[in-house]
Amino acid sequence: MNFQRSEALFRRANDLVAGGVSSQIRRGERPVPLFFVRGKGGKLWDADGNEYVDYVQGMGPNIFGHAPDFIIEAVERDMKNGFVYAGQFERELEVAELALSMVPLGGLVRFASSGTEIDQLVLRLARGYTGRPKYLKFEGHYHGWTDTVLYSVHPPLDQAGPDDAPVPAGESQGMAPGSANDIVIAPWNDLATLEEIFEREAGQIAGVIMEPILANTNCILPKPGYLEGVRDLCHRHGSVLIFDEVITGFRVSAGGAQALLGVTPDLATYAKSMAGGFPIAMLVGKPEIMKLVADGTVYHGGSFNSNVMSVAAAHASLSHIAADPDGFYRDLTDKGLQLMDGLRSAARRAEADLLVQGIGPVFATSFTTKPEISDYREQARYCDEAKHRKFVQLMLENGIRLATNGRWHMASTHTGEEIERTIRAAEKSLRAL
Ligand SMILES: Cc1ncc(COP(=O)(O)O)c(C=O)c1O
Repeated sequence: MNFQRSEALFRRANDLVAGGVSSQIRRGERPVPLFFVRGKGGKLWDADGNEYVDYVQGMGPNIFGHAPDFIIEAVERDMKNGFVYAGQFERELEVAELALSMVPLGGLVRFASSGTEIDQLVLRLARGYTGRPKYLKFEGHYHGWTDTVLYSVHPPLDQAGPDDAPVPAGESQGMAPGSANDIVIAPWNDLATLEEIFEREAGQIAGVIMEPILANTNCILPKPGYLEGVRDLCHRHGSVLIFDEVITGFRVSAGGAQALLGVTPDLATYAKSMAGGFPIAMLVGKPEIMKLVADGTVYHGGSFNSNVMSVAAAHASLSHIAADPDGFYRDLTDKGLQLMDGLRSAARRAEADLLVQGIGPVFATSFTTKPEISDYREQARYCDEAKHRKFVQLMLENGIRLATNGRWHMASTHTGEEIERTIRAAEKSLRAL
């Protein structure tokens, strides 16, 4: 495979765009961060004319694959009447109605434009509602790139503190020095340690935020009873429980992880899979908490919030799903599980230590001899990241594009033939490793 045109464009990009990329994770693609000219359904084509089956899918948003016709039609229809009103329009309400009919939590919504922003709002709201200064996040969980939250996502273990008493480890230079003071870090999937932390921080924790399925670290599922335990601890200690469903929302089921796992939080955030690839985010919350956003006590704004294109795309997406939610998610899940099984079989044939973990619509691969990875520290200790990076590159050279962080996103338009092609490429790549 030839990457000459992408290489030339990336050289030019480095003189124009810092690092040649607009989001840092994109810089990790090898042999070169690619330039694309087109995507449709499960496939992508790069500037050299190479074709890929794509499992990056925009890092999750493209739940229907690239450029779905029904989204294009809806956006074209509505955008003829204007792009940004800085005012209200009825379609917004239709999206809110659709979303609230699917999400178990219910209550009121507020729209924003990205997952990072909506996670800022939800933490501000938790503090505003409880009057407490701190919030608790878990190691291995990602909630955007701002100063408030870019701690202990994937920290080097020598900076992360003891296993049962993790400390906030900043992931970037330049963050506000005081921002770590108001964060409490906990190991996920460990109720006993969380209970101790709650005792220690009595009356200090406004809210607990988590990815209810840990999609940003090896797609780890919560242990049985864990989410219920966290919910009960939160309520006993007067803290709000926040699910960051930016990845899981509208991806793992119509009602997200909370519907799939049967635990309802107090507040939940959504973004990626909500609008078929268009930028939109949403906070859903109980009315008694959301009333602080409603009356402006907790401030939230944004010029691009509920712009006409994103709202049209969200409306088309959610309507498409709502027409047959069971069928839609059964099919997406079946496809994902078929691929996961195929990858496991390919790994057995190639005698590779590939672990495939997750639930179908989203899953992860890693190289480890462990039968399961159940928290961030296990991931850091027992998974061979360099080997996985090499695997991602080999897959690319075999026509399959994977995210460098090991997360796979299924699209409803991935075909059986594409899945078969992926499994063949995986076996070839694993043998070459
Ligand atoms: C769980 C989770 N929350 C929040 C975010 C931030 O969303 P965005 O990239 O739209 O700002 C991400 C992005 O990957 C995410 O995975």
